[in-house]
Amino acid sequence: MTPPLTLLGIESSCDDTAAAVVRGTTILSSVVHGQTSLHAAFGGVVPEIAARAHAEKLDYCVEEALAKAKLELSDLDGIAVTAGPGLIGGVLSGVMCAKGIAAATDLPLIGVNHLAGHALTPRLTDQLPYPYLMLLVSGGHCQFLIVHAHDSYTRIGGTIDDAPGEAFDKTARILGLPQPGGPSVESAAKHGDPDRFVLPRPLLNQEGCDMSFSGLKTAILRARDGVMAQRSGLTTQDQADLSAGFQAAVTDVLVEKTKRALGQYLRTNPAIRSFAIAGGVAANQNIRDGLVQLCAGLDTAFVAPPLSLCTDNAAMIAYAGIERMMHDEQDDLTLSARPRWPLDDRAAPMLGSGKKGAKA
Ligand code: KG4
Ligand code: ZN
Repeated sequence: MTPPLTLLGIESSCDDTAAAVVRGTTILSSVVHGQTSLHAAFGGVVPEIAARAHAEKLDYCVEEALAKAKLELSDLDGIAVTAGPGLIGGVLSGVMCAKGIAAATDLPLIGVNHLAGHALTPRLTDQLPYPYLMLLVSGGHCQFLIVHAHDSYTRIGGTIDDAPGEAFDKTARILGLPQPGGPSVESAAKHGDPDRFVLPRPLLNQEGCDMSFSGLKTAILRARDGVMAQRSGLTTQDQADLSAGFQAAVTDVLVEKTKRALGQYLRTNPAIRSFAIAGGVAANQNIRDGLVQLCAGLDTAFVAPPLSLCTDNAAMIAYAGIERMMHDEQDDLTLSARPRWPLDDRAAPMLGSGKKGAKA
């Protein structure tokens, strides 16, 4: 039997600088340095600041990942790097770093699609066999993918505007809650009444698996302004009720659209009943509970990687690189950074742009 491949992974497509070493399906180290404090004053990720911070941090991150794995560069079989989609300056920083190491060591260079990294994570964590249905739901992405193989995906729906994490972050800003918005809205919602405000469930009754979240955020803004028109500010209870209403609306949309996506998937794969989730929003207990219940009712396995592997990290990039290398695929020093890089290039392009730049 051939020994498992050992790859260094590098990720820098948004606001996390990350490096990891993975051997087969074992994570030897995974280092993530966030940039939240650098962008805090600007109300969002500033691409130029992100790119510069990645360029400054990447070398240290790689050294730390190797030291934690107790390995040298000479112990590796290859270097995997996110080559897109994402903020171009950040992706370029990572690609240049990986090319430098590959040129100096003669190790194979493997460009990885960031979305493939997320989509293949259930194989790293749970050795999930192909095919499976995946919901990728984060601050920058929201799409249903049928994962057929490491290089074959069918996108059967996605957001036509904001990603849910983006909507959680904007809602927090509207309600005066701290960033990142997901955890603070979830925590405020615990003491709230989800039915006090009537909020829309956009596209819920429209056919298909596409979703929309920007109208919901506007509805929160209007509801807040309505309360503010009566009193001079929001009480903690107002914040809690608006948070609970928002969270319930997002959960309803995600659960209903997942039900349809699973129906579509199971029609073509009746014997392989597995559904996986990834992305920061997968941390939300209300959303998770809704999806767990849905899957139980449809006799479908629900796979949720640990949160540290749901959010951006480099272990998923190293692992996706390992799958590429096992298929004798690799790149050379002409590898370029791609701001837009859909996994399913037959699907219609996603509209708009999120915190990660152009939607894939
Ligand atoms: O996957 P991630 O770390 O980065 C992106 O790829 O965007 O996801 C971050 C997003 C943020 O928008 C954050 O507000 C959201 O995930 N998030 C949550 C929760 N924790 C993080 N959203 C809802 N509920 C949570 N508990
Ligand atoms: Zn991501």
